[in-house]
Amino acid sequence: MLRGKTIIVTGANSGIGKATAAELLRRQGRVIMACRDRERAEKAALEIQQETGPDRGELVIKLLDLASLKSVRSFCEEILKEEPKIDVLINNAGIYQCPYTQTEDGFEMQFGVNHLGHFLLTNLLLDLLKRSAPSRIIVVSSKLYKYGEINFDDLNSEKTYDKAFAYSRSKLANLLFTLELSRKLEETGVTVNALTPGIVRTNLGRHVYIPMLVKPLFNLASWAFFKSPEAGAQTSIYLACSPDVEGVQGKCFANCQEEQLLDKATDEEVAKRLWDISEVLVGITT
Ligand SMILES: NC(=O)c1ccc[n+]([C@@H]2O[C@H](COP(=O)([O-])OP(=O)(O)OC[C@H]3O[C@@H](n4cnc5c(N)ncnc54)[C@H](OP(=O)(O)O)[C@@H]3O)[C@@H](O)[C@H]2O)c1
Repeated sequence: MLRGKTIIVTGANSGIGKATAAELLRRQGRVIMACRDRERAEKAALEIQQETGPDRGELVIKLLDLASLKSVRSFCEEILKEEPKIDVLINNAGIYQCPYTQTEDGFEMQFGVNHLGHFLLTNLLLDLLKRSAPSRIIVVSSKLYKYGEINFDDLNSEKTYDKAFAYSRSKLANLLFTLELSRKLEETGVTVNALTPGIVRTNLGRHVYIPMLVKPLFNLASWAFFKSPEAGAQTSIYLACSPDVEGVQGKCFANCQEEQLLDKATDEEVAKRLWDISEVLVGITT
């Protein structure tokens, strides 16, 4: 049971994040849904409350747009003012293969939201997480990291933009962020681990064009072969709650088991360089 535990889930109004929030609420946690759109968040909160029954914990909505560093900062200010502790932070929100767009601060959208927004969020909440130790940070990545590279000469896709590459790069950045952060968190009582959820039936594919004629077939295939959001949320829930992973640091999980990563996701030099550049990009001065 999670009574007395506070958990932040980014992107909790849809897909894996919504299913994660629902289960943590069912286990009586105090769940903060960090969402960018109040209306969508309220609709999801209502649905979650309806399906979790009267014995549930507490559900709170707070606005967070990861495509705006200003929004990330004001979300964190509110958390630091109002929350005495954070037990679990789940960096779940994500955007997939969108056309070339920029965040409010001029970053390529997938790199900006999936990596940089969460990078700033985690850093601004780190002291509170340390004060709340033992506490956990969970990073939702993707197996598609395998097709990414941290191309330091064009991190912001100013020379070329390939939407599939940019997604994979952002998910590789999630893993390298986990690696470098785990090093920094040694002996603090805060752990960070990543996960890859598998292929899950969610709204993630909203920017992917599927011709009208193929759509019914695609929908059928997705019902047959993709995981449900509830199944896709299992590893996030496991990392948030299970005593099995107490003290486990800097690993990646799939289906609630440790997953071996390619060398590109365990390269400490690249992880450190990406960290340092990310600090500059989001304007953290430490
Ligand atoms: N589905 C899969 O097969 C799969 C596979 C591997 C990894 N993943 C990862 O799983 C995570 C969850 O994705 P999902 O599949 O559940 O997709 P989803 O249903 O599209 O949910 C994504 C969530 O992220 C939020 N989000 C997007 N941009 C945001 C921003 N700028 N600020 C704040 N929130 C933002 C969305 O909010 P709105 O609803 O307001 O847009 C939504 O709540 C992602 O990190 C994704 O990369 C998914």
